[in-house]
Amino acid sequence: MDKTVAGIAAASIEAMLAREKARFIAGNPISQRLGDEAKHHFPDGVPLHWMTDWGTPFPLFVREAQGASLTDADGHRYRDFCLGDTGAMFGHSPGPILTVLAEQGGHGLTYMLPTEDAPAVGRLLAERFGLPFWQVAATATDANRFALRWARAITGRPKILVFNGCYHGTVDETFVRLRDGEPIHRPGLLGQFADLTQGASVVEFNDLPALEAALAARDVACVITEPALTNIGMVLPDPGFIEGVQAACRATGTLLLIDETHTISTGPGGWTRAHGLSPDFFVVGKAIAGGVPCAVWGFTAAIEAAMKAARARTGPGHSGMGTTLSANALALRALRANLEQVMTPAAYDHMLAMSGRLAAGIRRVIAERGLPWHVSAVGARAEFVCGPVPPRNGTEAAAAMHGDLEAAIHLFLMNRGVLIAPFHNMTLTCPATTTEDVDHLVACVAAACDALIAGA
Ligand SMILES: Cc1ncc(COP(=O)(O)O)c(C=O)c1O
Repeated sequence: MDKTVAGIAAASIEAMLAREKARFIAGNPISQRLGDEAKHHFPDGVPLHWMTDWGTPFPLFVREAQGASLTDADGHRYRDFCLGDTGAMFGHSPGPILTVLAEQGGHGLTYMLPTEDAPAVGRLLAERFGLPFWQVAATATDANRFALRWARAITGRPKILVFNGCYHGTVDETFVRLRDGEPIHRPGLLGQFADLTQGASVVEFNDLPALEAALAARDVACVITEPALTNIGMVLPDPGFIEGVQAACRATGTLLLIDETHTISTGPGGWTRAHGLSPDFFVVGKAIAGGVPCAVWGFTAAIEAAMKAARARTGPGHSGMGTTLSANALALRALRANLEQVMTPAAYDHMLAMSGRLAAGIRRVIAERGLPWHVSAVGARAEFVCGPVPPRNGTEAAAAMHGDLEAAIHLFLMNRGVLIAPFHNMTLTCPATTTEDVDHLVACVAAACDALIAGA
């Protein structure tokens, strides 16, 4: 019998990949030329190697983007549901951010001193996310790294705990996975010099008994998690699971870091606010300053006091945290404008409505064709997964990922003016996304499914 992948004949996937690659090559001569030129000084022709992860025969070069629309170097316009993999979750160049860029541009961009915006930014963060103290970093990776370092300093415990399939940026200690129930290094790590499994425990998401067992030795400083895993497809928490994680942490003196870099798609205060969580640390990066590089991490008053005590115990010297451009004048200004004028409840109302329409549309496409696929969503973030039932943990989610099938669909969409995130099948809607954008995406997914089913 012919091999099938998630209900689709493997031969059909292969044929679509070949066809769509040829179409991409024929349609993008300028991107191809730019890629060839850039190869002289950038490996594979890109300034960041992730830019080759799109499954295209050569990288797509961008001319410009505005709102929910992106135009490539060859002049094709895309309805953008990738949105910079969340960095542009509030649209490309929102008006208030444009104003800030123009205003701050003439007044210096980075001083390594706080600006007059700082008190207002602190107040806005505290009001919105409910934690009294904050620090600003340049990336979510940094914010997570710094918070985890503090957690170890405060508790005096050596380890952290992550859930299998997590991603929190390029934070060394989180690069562990489970294989047959045993912790291992995440495959593909380059230049690794320490055994990360010594410093990190890893258990499956939605497995509270495993978490409780791992915390029982009281050697874990901090559990770091997204409220729903969004980086291995999408894994939603069972009802009460995250609350259970919080309780298990409390019971064992373990700190809890909720990373809302992606789940800020839930609503204006993230999942944490929507579900009344009370973590010790809270991180959000990527889109928090409207696309200007910036991340924030918040913490409780008890943590702030414990930081002071840890500082006093340790004595003066380099903390191992901080980067020169963190909290620069431009980032702070953009952060303020984004919180005050862009990330508004009204913006979320629209984003959630668009995402709801998108999820319903793709569910309909799947049901009408009887495909063994499903759709999960966290607010303005939706994901179609090529597996029959929602995965409950990282192992199940990894099993539902099918590289070639996803790549074929992505290329099919791209060739028809639609961008979704290159990693798995994630879509985001922004305040500028229109019903027409959504309906076009749904129609293109339907056409891709029909072509895959027909094998044509
Ligand atoms: C949940 C989560 N946290 C942190 C990060 C790291 O963000 P950055 O690459 O901007 O440092 C990511 C990136 O995808 C993420 O998904």
